Amino acid sequence: MPHKPAVVPSTARVVVLVSGGGSNLAELLRHHTDPAYGARVVGVVSDRTDAGGLDVARGAGVPTAVVAPADFADRGEWDRAMAQAVAVFDPALVVSAGFMRILGQPFLERFPDKVVNTHPALLPSFPGAHGVRDALAHGVRVTGCTVHLVDSGVDTGPILAQRAVEVLDGDDEATLHERIKVVERALLVDVVGRVVRDGVRVEGRRATIG
Ligand code: GAR
Repeated sequence: MPHKPAVVPSTARVVVLVSGGGSNLAELLRHHTDPAYGARVVGVVSDRTDAGGLDVARGAGVPTAVVAPADFADRGEWDRAMAQAVAVFDPALVVSAGFMRILGQPFLERFPDKVVNTHPALLPSFPGAHGVRDALAHGVRVTGCTVHLVDSGVDTGPILAQRAVEVLDGDDEATLHERIKVVERALLVDVVGRVVRDGVRVEGRRATIG
């Protein structure tokens, strides 16, 4: 009988960018060893040496790099150094998961339509660094999270997926953010897996997975 080789699913190389504790990264790492998931985190890059996400990565045996803005003469130099640090890992997808800096044109040109970001609000409402605080201050009753492609604006790229989270009486920024993060990490894992397995088509503002 002819020998039939086992089908080995291809696994996409993913680089995760972090500035904070890395709970979204941790959730990706819980899935990335499953070949059926289709994505493997091959590197983690941060702008901060003290980012908890770096410890999460090290704990999983994933290589890390830090590109701190203070080490560069200007914004453009930092962008190019970030791009180089990420390119070393040859990623098919870059995931900004709690990365608290805007990625400039030199970075985005290197990875066109290959950078996704997760944001703790229902974009286009409440973009920027304080999505949870701003939604609370506005008095919304429903907020949530958004996973989107990154373009040159602040949280303005085509939306891939969103989930709603109810604001409860008595919520403060911490309690609301914690509930959003539970929903957010499940959404991010789902979207990253589908993007690498099925691809993304972008027509104008509309991004479609598969
Ligand atoms: C996440 O909620 C992410 O959406 C948010 O930071 C948190 C990081 O959590 N990002 C932004 O606010 C970007 N504007 P983590 O470090 O535990 O993954």
